[in-house]
Amino acid sequence: MQNFVFYNPTKLVFGKNTVEKIGEYLKKDNVKKVLLLAGGGSIKKNGVYEKVVRSLVENGVEKIEVWGVRPNPVLSKVKEAISVAKNENVDAILAVGGGSVIDSAKAVAAGVRYEGDVWDFYSGKAKVKEAMPLYAILTLSATGTEMNGNSVVTNEETLEKFSFSSIHVYPKVSVVDPEVQYTLPQNQLVNGAVDAISHVMEYYFDGEEVSLTDRIDEGIIKTIMQTTEVLLDDPKNYDARANFALSTTLALNGVSGLGHKGGDWSSHAIEHALSALNPDVAHGAGLAVVFPAWMKYVYSQAPERFVQFGENIFGLKDCKPEEAINALSDWYKKIGAPTTLKELGFKEEDIEKLTEIASKMAPMGKLKKLERDDIKKILEIAY
Ligand code: NZQ
Ligand code: ZN
Repeated sequence: MQNFVFYNPTKLVFGKNTVEKIGEYLKKDNVKKVLLLAGGGSIKKNGVYEKVVRSLVENGVEKIEVWGVRPNPVLSKVKEAISVAKNENVDAILAVGGGSVIDSAKAVAAGVRYEGDVWDFYSGKAKVKEAMPLYAILTLSATGTEMNGNSVVTNEETLEKFSFSSIHVYPKVSVVDPEVQYTLPQNQLVNGAVDAISHVMEYYFDGEEVSLTDRIDEGIIKTIMQTTEVLLDDPKNYDARANFALSTTLALNGVSGLGHKGGDWSSHAIEHALSALNPDVAHGAGLAVVFPAWMKYVYSQAPERFVQFGENIFGLKDCKPEEAINALSDWYKKIGAPTTLKELGFKEEDIEKLTEIASKMAPMGKLKKLERDDIKKILEIAY
């Protein structure tokens, strides 16, 4: 087991009827005016927006709104929101939406307190030194962004989908009310399941073995699988929604990687090239394609881990690593996730471009260090 420091400053407010509590938390922290950041309008359709506004009014918190954060969020929208936050003298950012909205809000929170170009945090040119307080209402369980310090944004001019991590952008308070997710389309549920399972697997397969963390990780993955199947049939099953939501938060709030080497993250880096080249490719859908291909390419580095995965997740007896990987792909197919680049609409000639974009992050990976050629081979397997 590796040495570690575990610290997570986010207050997680979880359960039914918690959205309407946001105003109280803001008032308690003496917040007078927020920038409310939102996506394309789902929160108006499902009543979340109305509850938030009522709670802000009741607690005397003013707001200014910025709408239009899109899935696979873009830098230009972040910059627009930063300038609104500066001009309107807000004292906190309130993100209401899925991972794209919360990730963008993290960039706004840090960007408001930075004189330079906010992209500097993603390109590695600058580190976040301070940020405005950030509050979040999560409407889509998938990314774990509600309880971590990561932000992923696409620079639409350079086609770079990069991330930064900072302790300063963990939300101060994150509200997770599973009931607001009853309105999620099935494909978002499926994308969320694949994404969160992938977060756990990035740690599970980073070359470290921590037996307690293995059990936690296997529990998270199995819970996500079981609850996804229930929710595909019965979207308003509260118990399944709540267990799904809690699992996805724990998948990327530090717990699933305790004692590990920080995770492998090659599959994520390669997937980000897919979403950067084609913004209509959802992150979870891309991962359903890339992760099993990565597994096929690297399993010989630690075949016993893949056997353990097959046995403990899928109940396979004396299995081979390939059988474990196939079981994962089969489950992805069963829930309706794509498993090839072709299904995502990519052509064979796109592999070169995808390799070029993903290779900007090379060398990458912990279980096996990947260079440009390795990335290309993984994409060929994925095709
Ligand atoms: O924009 P609106 O109208 O709100 O609709 C959204 C959007 O179209 C909709 N939606 C959200 N909540 C809903 C809902 N529809 C109905 N009912 C609800 N309750 O869902 C669509 C997708 O939303 P999005 O926020 O893009 O999805 P997700 O939460 O999966 O976020 C994906 C983004 O997060 C990044 C991904 O790369 C991608 O850009 N990631 C962030 C991570 C992090 N911060 O730690 C880690 C991940 O690995 C990932 O990279
Ligand atoms: Zn992810």
